[in-house]
Amino acid sequence: MSSRNTISGHPRSSNSGPAKKLFVSKKQERLFRTNELEFLDDRLLQSPQGLFMLTPAELFSGLAAQYGTPLYLLDVQKVLDAMSTLRDGLSIHYPNSEITYSVKTNYLSHILRQVLSHGYRLEVVSRHEMMLAQENGAQPNQLLLNGPVKSLEDLNYCYQHSIDLNLDSVDELQAATTIGTFEKPFRLGLRAAATLKNGNISRFGIDFGDSEAVGQIRNLIQNPCIEVIGLHTHHSSRRDAQSYCDRIDHLSQIAEMLEIKPKYLDIGGGVGSTPPPEIAAQLTYPIDDPKQLATIIGKHAFEKWGSQGPRIILEPGIAVLAESMNYLTRIVSVKNRGTGQIAVCDGSLFDVNPLRSTVHPPCHLLTSNDDPSEPSAEPTRLYGGTCMEIDQIGTLPVGRTPRPGDLVHVSNVGAYSACLAPQFIIPPAPIYSVDSQKIVRQRPTLGNFIGAGK
Ligand SMILES: Cc1ncc(COP(=O)(O)O)c(C=O)c1O
Repeated sequence: MSSRNTISGHPRSSNSGPAKKLFVSKKQERLFRTNELEFLDDRLLQSPQGLFMLTPAELFSGLAAQYGTPLYLLDVQKVLDAMSTLRDGLSIHYPNSEITYSVKTNYLSHILRQVLSHGYRLEVVSRHEMMLAQENGAQPNQLLLNGPVKSLEDLNYCYQHSIDLNLDSVDELQAATTIGTFEKPFRLGLRAAATLKNGNISRFGIDFGDSEAVGQIRNLIQNPCIEVIGLHTHHSSRRDAQSYCDRIDHLSQIAEMLEIKPKYLDIGGGVGSTPPPEIAAQLTYPIDDPKQLATIIGKHAFEKWGSQGPRIILEPGIAVLAESMNYLTRIVSVKNRGTGQIAVCDGSLFDVNPLRSTVHPPCHLLTSNDDPSEPSAEPTRLYGGTCMEIDQIGTLPVGRTPRPGDLVHVSNVGAYSACLAPQFIIPPAPIYSVDSQKIVRQRPTLGNFIGAGK
């Protein structure tokens, strides 16, 4: 039995039946004991495996007491599990395939190192991200550069180090022709612009429906100093399995039009994560099961090419990260407004939903089984600690009435949260890793604030 805790389940409220128990290692138990956290004293149980068990509420309360709030909790194993689900699903039918990790979605070094050590490449979208990946041990052949802005120096660097990259524009392709040589052509990929939900063409990539752009590309790729070895597209307008088969077909048509035989087709990210009921209720579209989705893509590629086709690359962000992080915040006040009850906590919307998606992460009051039940008649709107009217983290469902001092658990915050959280009013929350049982990102001190240092 490993000492890893599983923290993805929602801690149950007092009126939702018996709480799930979590395993806590000796090391963690010692950690709690040395801090003399009373909450553990008589609730620790000896499990048959010799480990101690805690309810999620107990575990979370201990971590909040130890490290303060707001606090992110990270479970890297969730990332690795989700990556391997997609990888295995895809490779069952189509072995010449790959899952890369989208660094922008969560660039925490602790995750990057684990993902690299499990054999995945890192998809980066800037030189800055590339340097971070390299700092964490990525070799040139473990990198794939996308992104809308690449300087001549960036292109040169990729050329010198044979780093895979997908160019975003005719201008970048033009620049690449000045770098490659006849003896060593610049081997590169081209990103094709996707059609968005509203029918518009995405601003990213080359519009292969634009005859002028296609004419320019056709001319440029005649240059023997470059070689187009891949095609790429990405969007998150559709997340269903069929949309990935459509991407494969679309890129294949572009390859035919350009009369090239690409070594890879990179069909981007945009895969949905398995949504908890609270998120599923907010979605206007169904989410395919990730394993089935990957299997359908692999089957489609096999039916098209058998085992002789190009490498298929998938670049998931949300699908592998959303569930990997939870967030703890403490309620500081509860107020009544004509429009209903509100609670204010020490966290921030910018920590859990910085892109301000219309889909809100699930929020739950942390209560233990023996909490006296005081049901609230209505849901409570949960606000963060910045002085912005928009700072609503989510809504606490009907259950026990929230009180100052209560902990709230916000789940599904692993994607586009910790790396986007601004230094605005509240410093970015520290991150505790449940697998290594330590803080893997510190709460910044005043000197780390942008512009606040000397
Ligand atoms: C090129 C590219 N690939 C992959 C991703 C990951 O997308 P998602 O998190 O929707 O899977 C993004 C996100 O913006 C992207 O721009």
